[in-house]
Order: sequence, then structure tokens, then C-alpha cells
Amino acid sequence: MTNVRFLNPDGTLAAEATAPPGQRLLTLAQTLGLPLEGTCEGAMACSTCHVLVAPTDLSKLPAPSAHEEDMLDFTPHAGPTSRLSCQIELTADLATLEVRLPPNHANMQGR
Ligand code: FES
Repeated sequence: MTNVRFLNPDGTLAAEATAPPGQRLLTLAQTLGLPLEGTCEGAMACSTCHVLVAPTDLSKLPAPSAHEEDMLDFTPHAGPTSRLSCQIELTADLATLEVRLPPNHANMQGR
């Protein structure tokens, strides 16, 4: 199980939950009602699932694919720890993960 903390853009806690292995981070966020659209449902065609991973947690995750990196190059507010949450699988050996919602999470669509 993975204990996941979602932070608001200002760093305050938005939600915290425990997820079973195999669940996608995007799915968990949507289950919690967080504003990650996930418009393309994981096809890496929208970047509306963008999150900023806590710098200390970034090395816990497999490196992004070249396609994911390409998408992040065109994602507003992307930074060095940005990831597409549809591409993050919560694995059994991932005990904790903290991610922050980007500043424009509420109006990404249509950009
Ligand atoms: S849901 Fe579209 S890129 Fe992740």
C-alpha cells in the first residue's frame, strides 16, 4: 500500500489516502475528487493530469518515457519534478508519495 499526500498549489494539504499496488496516481486523485482532468485517459495526449512530485520522492519513481518528457515540455507550470499522474503506478515497494497540484490545475483544458 502507498500513502499518498496531494498538496494544493500553495502547499497546503488537499487530500491524503492509501492506495493498493497497481493503482494509477491519476485514478486515485480522481477518486478523491481532486481537479485532475485526465482528459485523454492515459494516452499521453493532454497533460491535464500534470503533478509536481516532491523533490525527495522523485527518485522513488521510474524515469519518465521519452513521450512523457515530450508532453511535459509543452505543459504549463512544468518543472524539473513534473510528471503525468496517468503514468505513475503505485507499486508495492512505494511506501509514501507526495505530489503537488500545479497552479493552473483548474483551467488546464483548452490551453
Ligand atoms: S491523462 Fe492525458 S496525459 Fe495523462
